[in-house]
Amino acid sequence: MRTYLGHVELVNPITTAAGCAASGAELAQFFDLGRIGALTTRSITMAPRAGRPTPRMAETPSGMLNAVGLQGPGVDAFLERELPWLAQRSVRTVVSIGGGTVAEYTALARRLTDAPGVTAVEVNLSCPNIEDRGRVFARDGAASAEVIASVRSVMRYDVPVVAKLSPDVPDIVSVARACVDGGADALSMINNPLGMSIDTETMRPALAAVTGGLSGPAVRPLAVRCVWQVHAALPSVPIIGMGGVLTGRDAFELILAGACVVAVGTALFHDPYACIRILRELEELLAARGFNRLADAVGLAHRPPGASTRHRTDLEESSL
Ligand SMILES: Cc1cc2nc3c(=O)[nH]c(=O)nc-3n(C[C@H](O)[C@H](O)[C@H](O)COP(=O)(O)O)c2cc1C
Repeated sequence: MRTYLGHVELVNPITTAAGCAASGAELAQFFDLGRIGALTTRSITMAPRAGRPTPRMAETPSGMLNAVGLQGPGVDAFLERELPWLAQRSVRTVVSIGGGTVAEYTALARRLTDAPGVTAVEVNLSCPNIEDRGRVFARDGAASAEVIASVRSVMRYDVPVVAKLSPDVPDIVSVARACVDGGADALSMINNPLGMSIDTETMRPALAAVTGGLSGPAVRPLAVRCVWQVHAALPSVPIIGMGGVLTGRDAFELILAGACVVAVGTALFHDPYACIRILRELEELLAARGFNRLADAVGLAHRPPGASTRHRTDLEESSL
């Protein structure tokens, strides 16, 4: 079940999705966080943020809308309390960061670069760029690349920088490519596509913020499509796949599309054991299909039917 994010080894491919397990303390009541490949934190911001007004969550068919707005205590509290708590427990930690300007992302990366216990940094690019009329970074390849290049330039060389992409773009491959050209060591996808629902009793939008991010099984086919397209174009770039993973079978689907790590988000809200259960189900499923190692399944669906299971490096060679 071993997998790699750049040169960083993870004992297995399961992580939490950013924003769905805060900084891990609540989940730790249910299982030892060291049992999953990594814990991904909520997106850390420079200043503390109260988030958006309520209601900020709404259930939808096979999914959920949220407009939480990056609620959190800010980077100082994260570095003083949350990160040391995770480091003491030897939890492999992917720190997600969010900002409104390139300078803010860069300042966050500078604060994290020497902090002990950072396994990787995931750059949440689905934040409004306040220097570009609030246009979300992730919708613009050049703006995304600028953030990634700047974060990469200040981040310790041995900490992989992961660019988290949005599906709300006409061509996700071009944004992915721009991020890799900017220095991203890995990519993660998908962040929440924007959705909306209207309460037919009150006859008003269900969320105070009107629109919100859609997550859960409703978005899984979108996630599979994005991972598939990006893996086909950039087969040697590690991908963290996420979007509606509820079972080991769902995780396996993203792995077959090209993900080497799978994040579990919305499932955690009704099953705090979801990561451990999904890991066990995935292990059983791989064993039942005769895989000796996870790496042999990564991107397998791209090969013609009937082709033998081969290691990813074969795929890379054949794409040269
Ligand atoms: C309540 C909630 C909060 C989230 N907060 C963040 C966040 O802080 N940063 C981020 O990059 N993504 C955030 N996301 C997106 C998730 O990390 C994930 O990309 C998305 O929900 C798809 O996975 P899922 O369907 O398993 O939830 C959030 C999602 C939810 C549901």
